[in-house]
Amino acid sequence: PRPGRLKKTVVMVGMMGAGKTAVGRALAARLRAPFLDSDHEIEAAANMTIPEIFARDGEAFFRKKESQVIARLLAEARGVLSTGGGAFLSEANRDMISDRGVSVWLNADLDVLWNRVRHRDHRPLLKTADPYETLKELYEARVPLYARADLVVRSDAQTPVEGVVDRVLAALA
Ligand code: S3P
Repeated sequence: PRPGRLKKTVVMVGMMGAGKTAVGRALAARLRAPFLDSDHEIEAAANMTIPEIFARDGEAFFRKKESQVIARLLAEARGVLSTGGGAFLSEANRDMISDRGVSVWLNADLDVLWNRVRHRDHRPLLKTADPYETLKELYEARVPLYARADLVVRSDAQTPVEGVVDRVLAALA
């Protein structure tokens, strides 16, 4: 596709470990559109990592910054925007995203998510006594909200990133 052809920003939503960043980046490359990442922008603006922000200022503060950053990115550029796993949970964020973007829920099964997050150390919400159980609870609570996305695309263990990008492109067509 030619650059500049996107009418709306494509917003990747879904759980930690669903592949929002990897798929979003590859999708942007295929569309020749800018790639935007809300977690990355929050870290750059604060000059702190997400674990540091959670530890120093708490989750509520992070959520406020997250909403501001998403509003700014949606206003600034049309491209592919990967969000953090909690971004689509607030109604205000969902409204903002559906006004200016098309949301894509990257839906992966719990065991796939777990295999992708279990060895990583940068997710403050999973620093609990039983991170698998925490992930499962988050997953079950969030699925009904992610299901409000405009499009749903499956991300499974067998399909490489480019294959998931093919599915997103097919869903957008
Ligand atoms: C969060 C997911 C993280 C990050 C923060 C909170 C969540 O992003 O925004 O740790 O609430 O699910 P990823 O989904 O990219 O891991």
